[in-house]
Amino acid sequence: MCPGSSSSSLCLCLCSSRTQENFTVPGAAAGEMAGEAFGAVMRLENLLRMGMFWTLAVIYSYAQLLHQKLFRSGIIFSRSPRIAPDGARLVCIVTGASSGIGRATAEALAVHGYHVILAGRARTRLLEVVWAIRRKHDNVSLEALELDLCSVGSILSFVDQVKSMLQASQGSKALQLLVNNAGILAGSSRCTETGSDSMITSNYLGPYLLTQHLLPHFHQGHPRARIVNVTSFTHRCVRAGIVDEKQLARGSLANFPLHKSWYSLAQVYENSKFCLLLFTYELHRRFHDGTDSFKLSVMAADPGIVRTNIMRELPSSLVSFTYFVLSILRLLQDPSDGSKAVLDAALAPEDVSGEYFFGGNGRTVRSSALSYDKVLAKQIWRLSNSICQRAMENEEQ
Ligand SMILES: NC(=O)c1ccc[n+]([C@@H]2O[C@H](COP(=O)([O-])OP(=O)(O)OC[C@H]3O[C@@H](n4cnc5c(N)ncnc54)[C@H](OP(=O)(O)O)[C@@H]3O)[C@@H](O)[C@H]2O)c1
Repeated sequence: MCPGSSSSSLCLCLCSSRTQENFTVPGAAAGEMAGEAFGAVMRLENLLRMGMFWTLAVIYSYAQLLHQKLFRSGIIFSRSPRIAPDGARLVCIVTGASSGIGRATAEALAVHGYHVILAGRARTRLLEVVWAIRRKHDNVSLEALELDLCSVGSILSFVDQVKSMLQASQGSKALQLLVNNAGILAGSSRCTETGSDSMITSNYLGPYLLTQHLLPHFHQGHPRARIVNVTSFTHRCVRAGIVDEKQLARGSLANFPLHKSWYSLAQVYENSKFCLLLFTYELHRRFHDGTDSFKLSVMAADPGIVRTNIMRELPSSLVSFTYFVLSILRLLQDPSDGSKAVLDAALAPEDVSGEYFFGGNGRTVRSSALSYDKVLAKQIWRLSNSICQRAMENEEQ
């Protein structure tokens, strides 16, 4: 259990299971969404943020790596083998494993000897990945479980299934690693039934709730249990102020209030990744305050810019153009390169925690100064708790 939380505070919730969303939308609705996405992206603010600020943010991270190389500073963590306790098999969960970085991460961890639970919204997509990995590698242990991070019912049912699987294994399987990788870049504003924005819910509130509910099920021996949150260099663009519950549920972090007439998708995405990062560091601090003997390790991983399906809701011509420019700038990676920072974070030595992995080869950088703000992190934690509590109550009614 998370130190500083009561078991009831772990029972947090976001939205009703009736709000489950799927990316497969009927033709007319898809057309409408694409139109909306085009309109939203073309807003000057979104164009500026995504085209300029995000590029500068990733360049800033690479500049840190260059500085470390030139001055031989910075910490590099080698990957260390994970030996399961008493012949048990270590289990890891990778959310969003049906495509992109999650898929590449799941494959690498399976090859590394983990029993990998691939989690995502569509079982068929997950099974295709399971079969593809099995065709490539012998002796890998994989299973697919449905999980929709926008649905409280789905999160709770997922946790129940993991718990049952661990119990049924009678100690032959031990949950050691959770990779919170799933995420979206929504092209249009969509709300869950309790009124939360679907992007902040998929990228932050859902993973927050999932993590809190899984905490009691991590094994407590060696190798130490670990959570890896996949965040993004875009968090560097966030300038947060005082926030309230309503704003957070909409994906806003004050200072720059969101527009009412169109969707500030770039800002909501940045905020969601920033909140996930604040959560990472706050969870790390709670497990390393010296009072709890169960030391969970918590990491942030930033894959850089990766060619995946993340921009699937944006106009395809704009996506192709963006990838073209990024590849000329040599900033675009494929998913297996993008997953390197995630794997470095997952496999770094046991006693490492609270680090921000970027650039592969075990390298870490500093995230934005604001992301280390302890007061803000506590405030966002508290607000997330109460948003989730309320949604949980709705679910129970
Ligand atoms: N690509 C980049 O340049 C980049 C850069 C920095 C950070 N990241 C982060 O890396 C992570 C992986 O993204 P990606 O680039 O690999 O994108 P992707 O190819 O679109 O993969 C996203 C995954 O998330 C899953 N997902 C989305 N919404 C979900 C929900 N509500 N519940 C459960 N699963 C959900 C999707 O699965 P289903 O649709 O099958 O459910 C999919 O497997 C994201 O968190 C993203 O923010 C990406």
